[in-house]
Amino acid sequence: MYNVIATRHIPGNYLASEKNIQVEFFPGTGDMREWILSNIDNADGMLITLNEKIDREIIDRGRKLKVISTYSVGYDHIDVDYAMERGIIVTYTPEVLTDATADLIFGIMIAVARNIVSGNNLIRENGWKAGWNPTFMLGSEIHGKTLGIIGMGRIGKALVKRASGFDMNTIYYSRHRHDVPADFTSLDYLLSESDYVAIALDLNEETYHFIDYAKLSKMKKTAFLINGTRGKIVDESDLAMALKEGIIRGAALDVFENEPVTNSNPLLAFPNVVATPHLGSATYETRDKMAETAVTNLMNVLNGREPLYKL
Ligand code: DGY
Repeated sequence: MYNVIATRHIPGNYLASEKNIQVEFFPGTGDMREWILSNIDNADGMLITLNEKIDREIIDRGRKLKVISTYSVGYDHIDVDYAMERGIIVTYTPEVLTDATADLIFGIMIAVARNIVSGNNLIRENGWKAGWNPTFMLGSEIHGKTLGIIGMGRIGKALVKRASGFDMNTIYYSRHRHDVPADFTSLDYLLSESDYVAIALDLNEETYHFIDYAKLSKMKKTAFLINGTRGKIVDESDLAMALKEGIIRGAALDVFENEPVTNSNPLLAFPNVVATPHLGSATYETRDKMAETAVTNLMNVLNGREPLYKL
């Protein structure tokens, strides 16, 4: 029998149907970090989400720990190098959430460009007074426009596919050229030519605050910034300044520097910002696939087999 600690309940019965594990769940109240620290010494495995920061202190306490299975594709919340140094296998859930995340990124891009959220709010607030009007709530087109994708991993490639269905001209910047139906360009060219700049990067030391005021200043005044990967890739105070100065036309954000976000976040004061609460993978189907993958990863390591996805 293996002992597993799980920080949240995940969809499906995948954990419950495993016979040779005993799972201790975070009770839901109290300090999560303290709970992990006081329960990890006896754990063979842990199932976590992107909210839990797994650092050296936690890893050192896990004397028996063999596997950290994160219910996420991102792993910037885990000190992976240190875990590996300690012989602990870190697993994650890529691939299964790519399409749902790309759908959401595309959705918020269209929403900000075509005033879908502000239009919805206007009606609900009883603000649609004059009926149809030739110059009312005009937005920017999607078809025929240039989408610039920064990063060409799984999400970038899924965005290329969606953009072709919308007859967009797609360009990208990445460390390497990829075999995709999109033009590989310099970052400066992408920033200056794109009507939509979509971030499709992982968060790491190199990409922290990758989008700052200097880069925003290179974008077209009519362009939009779209971020659905990690909030810390964008310097939010620089973005707020760029929006205030009219340097870009708007932004659509599913991720933020510090989550959860409250309405005191200065970005939410801009009507030309569409904000959603980190919903990229939030579909019934994808969250279920993530659960199956995370539990299979966990169990495979505990049972001495290769996990589906490890770092
Ligand atoms: C992840 O898994 O890292 C996404 O950001 C949320 O599903």
